[in-house]
Amino acid sequence: MSPLTRRQLLATGVVGAGAAATGGVGLWWVTTDGPEYSGGADLVEPEELTSRDGLLEAELTVAAARVRIGDRDATVQAFNGSLPGPTLRVSPGDTIRVVMTNELESPTNLHVHGLHVSPRGRGDNPFRSIAPGESADYEFTLPDDHAPGTYWYHPHRHGHVADQVAAGLYGAIIVEDPAPLPVTRERTLVVSDISLDGSGALAEPGRMERMMGREGEVVLVNGQVRPTISAAPGDRERWRIVNACTARYLDLSLAGQDVRLLGRDLGRLPSPEDITATVLAPGNRVELLVEAREGSSALVATPVDRGGMGSMMGGGMMDDDAPGDGEPIDLLTLAVSGTKGEALAAVPEGPALRDLRGEKIDGRRTLDFDMAMGRGGSMMGDGDDGGMMAFTINGEAFDATRTDISAKAGSVEEWTLTNSSPMDHPVHLHVWPMQVIEEGQDRVAEPRWLDVVNVPASGSVKVLIAFDTFSGRTVYHCHILDHEDQGMMGTVAAD
Ligand code: C2O
Ligand code: CU
Ligand code: CU
Repeated sequence: MSPLTRRQLLATGVVGAGAAATGGVGLWWVTTDGPEYSGGADLVEPEELTSRDGLLEAELTVAAARVRIGDRDATVQAFNGSLPGPTLRVSPGDTIRVVMTNELESPTNLHVHGLHVSPRGRGDNPFRSIAPGESADYEFTLPDDHAPGTYWYHPHRHGHVADQVAAGLYGAIIVEDPAPLPVTRERTLVVSDISLDGSGALAEPGRMERMMGREGEVVLVNGQVRPTISAAPGDRERWRIVNACTARYLDLSLAGQDVRLLGRDLGRLPSPEDITATVLAPGNRVELLVEAREGSSALVATPVDRGGMGSMMGGGMMDDDAPGDGEPIDLLTLAVSGTKGEALAAVPEGPALRDLRGEKIDGRRTLDFDMAMGRGGSMMGDGDDGGMMAFTINGEAFDATRTDISAKAGSVEEWTLTNSSPMDHPVHLHVWPMQVIEEGQDRVAEPRWLDVVNVPASGSVKVLIAFDTFSGRTVYHCHILDHEDQGMMGTVAAD
């Protein structure tokens, strides 16, 4: 942790008032090597666009935007000028219609991450491209039995995804529960990271950062630096947390508070689980129940060791600054004081989860995620792409015209996801969620449903997938978005 500078102390307002305290609540600074950002303001949640009579009509414009990050002016890219974009709040059975306008200088498109909707036509179609200056219509209809939960949207134009998400293009989607849960309040917390240069423009990542997966120099919650949340003792809050970081894993903890895990990615757990920490790979979401206890607590992201390229480089130089080596980062402060509110009813059990074990398996496949030296030999070479690392699945880089997997609509398949590289890859499949049944040698006892599954370096994970409700063609990929843009993506058609 770097010592506090006078400017940081000024930002905290504690100069001359016992400033010797370090790490205490009320000191807002960000411990990265980049520029300094002040924070600590009250949390602001994104604007919500809510469906009415089964329909949500929204206009989403992506464009460069001037925003404040900490105490700095920043030029980012945003949906409707706000970082994050508006939250879309819908119910199972609803239709979402979006007119998406591209005012960027690069092509883009729209993906609704985690939603179980059709990948065809104007649906959740990752093969569309919206040219600069153009608009496109999207329409997503959720099935009546769509899993409630926290989802999100972001651009998905291959080759531009990491740049556009890192620039600020993301927003939350909430699918409501059939019956509201007894909580004092709920909050949407979109976690992202970003790097700015000295003038407040987006910093260009180097090629090493692209290979590792870039991690922004400052981590934001709803576009803010270490915002503050206030609650009274006994309040029960429901936190919907999205990991919208391009490559950063979040190992979250909230010491001093009672935290239960309500759900991951999609749906709810049958009963909330007591936890002290939970890890989100890029793209994952969690819903937490926080029972507030008097005092002040920080939501902390502890760095996660997700491997590196040291052995591939022969010298270990990549590991000097590897993810996992940094300091824990305070994402927000929860300040709990005042008089205790009314006690709340217990949270009712959630519905039992579907378990695909025991259903007929129609196909078994192995997908191997790997990295290899590109054509030019050394990736330290100068400039041209010849020296780049190749990011592959079963030895092949993404080709939108090739169909890698043909599944039968309505069938259940077992996929073994293996990782031959020295770096973790969070594997994501569109449209159809995955039930994790084995992690390495360990069998998973309870049904566990996710749409992003971390496959550890040199490890493997076995999942079951039911290709039901919809047919059509879509993609699976590594959700370290730099890896996806560099080819770690494949296509699957269910017909
Ligand atoms: Cu969140 Cu294919 O992505
Ligand atoms: Cu997705
Ligand atoms: Cu990856």
